[in-house]
Amino acid sequence: MQIITDPVQMQDVANKLRLNRQRIGVVMTMGALHEGHLSLVKLARESAGTVIFTIFVNPRQFGPAEDLHRYPRPFEKDVALAKSAGVDYLFAPDVESIYPELFQTTLSCGALAERFEGVLRPGHFNGVATIVTKLFNITKPHTAIFGEKDAQQLAIIRRLVSDLNMDISIVAAPIVREENGLAVSSRNIYLSSQQHSTAGILYQGICHAEKRLAAQEKNLGTIAAEIEAMIISAPGCRPEYVSFVDEATFEPAETAEAAKEYRLLLAVSIGSVRLIDNGKFRT
Ligand code: PAF
Repeated sequence: MQIITDPVQMQDVANKLRLNRQRIGVVMTMGALHEGHLSLVKLARESAGTVIFTIFVNPRQFGPAEDLHRYPRPFEKDVALAKSAGVDYLFAPDVESIYPELFQTTLSCGALAERFEGVLRPGHFNGVATIVTKLFNITKPHTAIFGEKDAQQLAIIRRLVSDLNMDISIVAAPIVREENGLAVSSRNIYLSSQQHSTAGILYQGICHAEKRLAAQEKNLGTIAAEIEAMIISAPGCRPEYVSFVDEATFEPAETAEAAKEYRLLLAVSIGSVRLIDNGKFRT
């Protein structure tokens, strides 16, 4: 595995790979790697001969009161994990090379970025769309793998790629879960062991939705309210949003129609830690 920190050198390598007719798959991360990230590498490997893996904690997607400065950065450990997962190139630029002094362009996402996470984290998705576009331009992938855990981010990236005619195929990777159903995330390390076990409530909510839909409950608002009540009754938990969306449009959905796909989106605070999760359902 070759480690590259200079964007120009990375772009040069990507150009040469393309000239040699290599298919490039990219996996973008902010480091603090876990099983979920490694599952993305596996999918990248299935879709491309060369896997480029990026690690960059992007300051432009953090709000002023968020955890940018304490975000975990175990670089040496990440290098070892990426290498053992079979990554070919690890691209780990510093902030100055990505956002030099005169940098001033930011992408502006539309309505999709203004709901759910967008309401609670203003500007977050514009920061994500900007860095993802820059990393696409630097790594020149044919395929890019993103986790379904960040379902709204995935929908926004699909929209971005389609709206800006980027010739990149986006692959969604299924959520990897811990034993109690908690979706793996770099931020799970902020949870105490008590909070960690309580955090299984998000997955219990998803399982509840599955049961209620299987029992032909059509009122999605009713199911969401039941899940909110479950979360409120769990110690130290506060629901931020629990909502169904139409999988195709990401528009909030209140009534389940036959033969359609919906996604349940959840954001829950446990103490000072925010967790998000989601589940996809076909009626
Ligand atoms: O999902 C993430 O880790 C980040 O939002 C991403 C896509 C790497 C952009 O910084």
